[in-house]
Amino acid sequence: MPLLRALVGAGAVSGVALTAYAVRETREFRLRRYDVPILPADQRPLRVLHLSDIHMTPGQRAKQEWLADLALLDPDLVVDTGDNLAHRDSVPVVCDSLGQLLDRPGVFVHGSNDYYEPTLRNPLRYLLPDSGRRHIRSPMLPWPELTRSFTAAGWLDLTNRTASLTVGETTIAFAGVDDPHLGYDKLETVHGPADPAADVRLGVAHAPYLRVLDQYAADGYDAVLAGHTHGGQVCLPGGRALTTNCDLEPDRARGLHRHPADSRPGDPGSSWLHVSAGIGTNPFTRLRLNCRPEATLLTLVPG
Ligand SMILES: [Fe+2]
Repeated sequence: MPLLRALVGAGAVSGVALTAYAVRETREFRLRRYDVPILPADQRPLRVLHLSDIHMTPGQRAKQEWLADLALLDPDLVVDTGDNLAHRDSVPVVCDSLGQLLDRPGVFVHGSNDYYEPTLRNPLRYLLPDSGRRHIRSPMLPWPELTRSFTAAGWLDLTNRTASLTVGETTIAFAGVDDPHLGYDKLETVHGPADPAADVRLGVAHAPYLRVLDQYAADGYDAVLAGHTHGGQVCLPGGRALTTNCDLEPDRARGLHRHPADSRPGDPGSSWLHVSAGIGTNPFTRLRLNCRPEATLLTLVPG
């Protein structure tokens, strides 16, 4: 059966080539930019660098250099929505890579991959419905050390709490929850009307589960920032996501959207939603297809 052998051979070669391409894409970092019209009319624009899902291992030099260069953007504020770690020795590596970004005002929450060591997974699981299985039997990662490092640098820990920060002339009211993907979010701790006296109100979470987005939008947060989805990670040509690894629909797997999806700016109980496609992947599923790794510079401007 020479023809069959040739077809199988061609299929194997195509699979290897596609895998090699998808592995290479994990190092094709890019910066996305959006304007978000949520500031009061008299305020100067505020530049917010949104980082998510770094999934750092000590040997990832290209990622470390690219992250270090982000400090050149000189953002007014950094928002880190978790999954920084992918190795027990990564806390100093993450902090070194963030470098001068840690000197900027910042806020953070953790994701499941800050808590537990990565495990071997089926790369195709990103295309499958959520099995409900959570990898919480893996050894713990040194997340308390990550928390201490970030807070020692002056970043605000938004784990199940509200806080406020004044950056330049802008007072920002924040709400943050622990990772909803693990069910660690204690929404009742941040429930209630967002501070109307603040100039702008931001909700933060690792995973953009609808229950979290619904509460933030109903409570008057102007925008919600999240990660976790990896933008779908393995996407169709054109970047169409097939999955989000949570209950958010794939059309909002990354980028700037509204929540609820069909709302318009100014609608009561609605907000902007920015979902980062993230910078890394689980080291055992180091593939991205039509979904480059990214950070985002959100410029908050008067609405
Ligand atoms: Fe992640």
